[in-house]
Amino acid sequence: MSARNGTVAVVGGGVAGASAALAAAAAGADVVLLTATTLLDSATACAQGGVAAAIWPDDSPERHARDTIAAGAGLCDPAAVEVLTREGAEAVRALVAAGAEFDRTDDGDLARGLEAAHSLPRILHAGGDASGLRLAEFLAGRLADSAVDVREGARMRDLVRRDGTVTGVRLDDATAGGAVVDADAVVLATGGLGRLYPATSNPAGALGDGILAAWRAGAVLADLEFVQFHPTTTPDGLLVSEAVRGAGAVLRDERGRRYLTDVDPRAELAPRDVVAAATATVIREQAGRPAYLDATGLAVSGVELAARFPTIHRGLAARGIDWRTEPVPVAPAAHFAMGGVRTDLDGRTNVPRLLAAGECARTGVHGANRLASNSLLEGLVFGARAGRAAARPARDAPVWDATEVDDAAFDGPGAGSGGGSGRALAALERATAAQRLAAVQAALRDGVGVERDADGLRAAVARLDRISLGRDAAAERAALARLVAIAADHRTESRGAHRRRDHPDTDVTLATPHAVVRGRTNQGAACSPAA
Ligand code: SIN
Repeated sequence: MSARNGTVAVVGGGVAGASAALAAAAAGADVVLLTATTLLDSATACAQGGVAAAIWPDDSPERHARDTIAAGAGLCDPAAVEVLTREGAEAVRALVAAGAEFDRTDDGDLARGLEAAHSLPRILHAGGDASGLRLAEFLAGRLADSAVDVREGARMRDLVRRDGTVTGVRLDDATAGGAVVDADAVVLATGGLGRLYPATSNPAGALGDGILAAWRAGAVLADLEFVQFHPTTTPDGLLVSEAVRGAGAVLRDERGRRYLTDVDPRAELAPRDVVAAATATVIREQAGRPAYLDATGLAVSGVELAARFPTIHRGLAARGIDWRTEPVPVAPAAHFAMGGVRTDLDGRTNVPRLLAAGECARTGVHGANRLASNSLLEGLVFGARAGRAAARPARDAPVWDATEVDDAAFDGPGAGSGGGSGRALAALERATAAQRLAAVQAALRDGVGVERDADGLRAAVARLDRISLGRDAAAERAALARLVAIAADHRTESRGAHRRRDHPDTDVTLATPHAVVRGRTNQGAACSPAA
């Protein structure tokens, strides 16, 4: 163990993981950062939209907080939002001062972008639409200059626990530096679960494995029903950033009608849940055919789309689409999980020495619907907080007691009936791993998409029950997907990203309770044995 201030293992190499590792090292811990692929292969590196930060004189953290809370549809934790917007502005100023690249105007000032549901332009971009990649490269450089031991290709298999306390990380591959990494504290920064859906903007690793590992270790999960769908993704998964709508592109149905002006006075710049729901409705009415994002007017008015949005331009060109002259077919796709491992403001979970930050965590900043470009900011702020907390000697002091959570609890993975016909079960047993994962994705797509109802949700739970009976990775993923479906079934209202056809209104009485699932530490087979 460490000579200085303990050993901290950080799992995940995106903005939250890198920020946690750097902060823990600065606080005096020995730090090992484990990432399944590379530092430049993460949801962070995929992010086109930038970093929202109240750093201009006509803006303020309070105003940014108001926009965040309005988008969150009544479920944000105001204390978490206050931390996000205040410390976020400081963190972004520090990045600029440290030389991180952000786009500038011809005068050399930082350029300000506008995205949906922000009351004024406050988004910093880098490389046009390569904001996340530039940030990931900058953080990788800082990690290289630090004492953090970065291990790429080190995939977590599970958390290791002793007497209910997390004591390390078990790796998939003993060649990646040892089968078990012992640690005084573990920070999960493993990203979200978008890949549990077939249509998603997320990278291949976003299967929610960190969230499930935390659950197996006894952590409480919350707000899993809130999955944000990005409205403008090509049918094969290329994200077309909200910044394109911020610059003036509009959405049309297949007849060319601009449908959002009928739905919300902010039209294409309404909150993301509003735009995604309206787009899903149009697609349903068109028997599944896509909507269209029309940026041709921008090209006519002189915006150099290729220069301003190079990643999107290249991606569309590779698909044979010239968006300067033709509209782009789009549909909603799973983009961001607002729920996850429940933490306090320092990333601490209810499990001693287990912390979480970034998309896998549920800090309360996003509520029912994340405001655009708040996620890189969340990773910067709460990653650093979790890193500092993990390095503190008091890191294992219990912060909140899961038994005191008075929210609506429901059963976790493995609690289902496991029903299904013998023939269906036999077919599932014969299926390949890829087919079984595709079955998980199809169940979420069919029952737990943008538009939901009780029949669809319960049918999804039954399908996922059957898949979760196995003992392979697909069964684990089915178990997590099942929790998403059950949480969505519990929330009998429409709020933020959670839209119920059978409960179209928001129920004011449901603003407080959150659907939580209490982790189970008695799943011996699923949990790593004590070292
Ligand atoms: C986008 O560029 O539209 C995505 C930004 C975000 O999800 O915050």
